[in-house]
Amino acid sequence: MLMEPAYLLANASVVPDPHSVTFSKHIRPLFEVHCNDCHSGWFPDGGLRLSSVDEILEGGKSGPAVVPGQPRKGWLTYTITLKDDSRLKMPPGDASLSASELDLIFEWIRQGAR
Ligand code: HEC
Repeated sequence: MLMEPAYLLANASVVPDPHSVTFSKHIRPLFEVHCNDCHSGWFPDGGLRLSSVDEILEGGKSGPAVVPGQPRKGWLTYTITLKDDSRLKMPPGDASLSASELDLIFEWIRQGAR
């Protein structure tokens, strides 16, 4: 199951400003490292490009990847929280995002995915 970001549970005083997590500052660099070898260019895997918010909201072959404001919904959340060896676990294989990277992505979606 998805957990609330640790800092939301731990201490309300460290909750960041609304809309402080932005795609260009925090999320794009992370996707560049972990995702965009496969999710950019002319023939992105799953039909999904992750280089801009518009591309993410348009989504891939399964539809929009993110539901702004609802970090528990959307394909992106689904795929990056899979633990098994499903072909939909992202990133595939042994690679994985750290807990703090996951928190950052969920917080970005919670804040409206801007
Ligand atoms: C090594 C290549 C590779 C990397 C790296 C990768 N993906 Fe994927 N991704 C795929 C493939 C292949 C599919 C299609 C899987 C299928 O449908 O069988 C896919 C599908 C997806 C889908 C579903 C798209 C749809 O509409 O069906 C999402 C969401 C996704 N990836 C997100 C990510 C995210 C986020 C990252 C980085 C954390 C990432 N992927 C990293 C190869 C990759």
